[in-house]
Amino acid sequence: MTARAPLTAGKASVAAPANIAFIKYWGARDLAEALPANASISMTLSACLSHSTVAARPEPGPDEVLLASPGGALAPAPAGFSRRVVGHLDVLRRSTGFAGSFRVATVNSFPASAGLASSASGFAALAVAALESLGLELPAGELSALARASGSASAARSVLGGFVELPAGLEARAGAHVLYPAEHWSLCDVIALIETGEKEVSSLEGHRRAPTSPYFERRLEQLPEKLARVRSALAARDLEALGPLIEEEAIDLHLIAMSSRPGIFYWAPATLVVLAELRALRAAGIGAWGTMDAGPNVHVICEPRDAAVVADRLASLPGVRSILSDGVGSGPAPAADLF
Ligand code: PMV
Repeated sequence: MTARAPLTAGKASVAAPANIAFIKYWGARDLAEALPANASISMTLSACLSHSTVAARPEPGPDEVLLASPGGALAPAPAGFSRRVVGHLDVLRRSTGFAGSFRVATVNSFPASAGLASSASGFAALAVAALESLGLELPAGELSALARASGSASAARSVLGGFVELPAGLEARAGAHVLYPAEHWSLCDVIALIETGEKEVSSLEGHRRAPTSPYFERRLEQLPEKLARVRSALAARDLEALGPLIEEEAIDLHLIAMSSRPGIFYWAPATLVVLAELRALRAAGIGAWGTMDAGPNVHVICEPRDAAVVADRLASLPGVRSILSDGVGSGPAPAADLF
């Protein structure tokens, strides 16, 4: 870490967005350090947010991890969630030299653990708010690397806005970088929510099992070319080129998950219903392509002019519970205090 300002013990609140990966991180070179086996490219969102308040206390002692309800009430977070947060606070203490403790409260604007990248936004919000509570500001790459050290490599992308790439392997230690800022292309993400409960198999476990799929190595061989094609489609703002690439990529990831040993099935029947509807929409001239993270929900990427009709069509499908309308965003921003 390069920033060495004198540490303060204050309070800071940050809202950090989720992101949707166009080329996904699936399988690690080093899982303990969250170094991905492949580079990934994502779009940072603007409406799916994790909101975190962090207060630094000079006295050492146990950290306090709370969940805020949308109404504002605070309650102790479940043990598993607290452990991951305290683990990340330990990383922050080691890298900043801060010897005190933290009080943390978090609330998401969207369902957690349903393949909507809540760990990406959650750990991005935590990293930025904790640093600010200590009066520290880091260069973007170092901040991104710190977010990655939470164990959720996708968090490295959520600290940045727009269209973001996280390199593979040891290069991921330097963090993610912005390919294009949000203003480059105002793409929409119409999210068909199919299930909002906790997923059965975490993405961490998915990364662990990925190399057991007979198709894992084949995907890694094909990725450099696919990444180059996604970068050029982004450069040219060409959705007709980008759309098929991201939908194929999502299907490849899920084929690897399904063919891991033991297999992981993130899709629900309605996932296929949505994909079929997208084919029908495209046949009718509407440019809309789907991508799924480690869950059944489908993120549908389209131009703003088509977002309303896409949302209406998806909302009418059996098995789609609700629609979240999101789009490209600029990254973490200051937010109101939760306590
Ligand atoms: O960062 P993790 O360990 O939560 O893994 C992210 C996995 C995917 O969301 C499926 C893909 C991605 O790159 O966001």
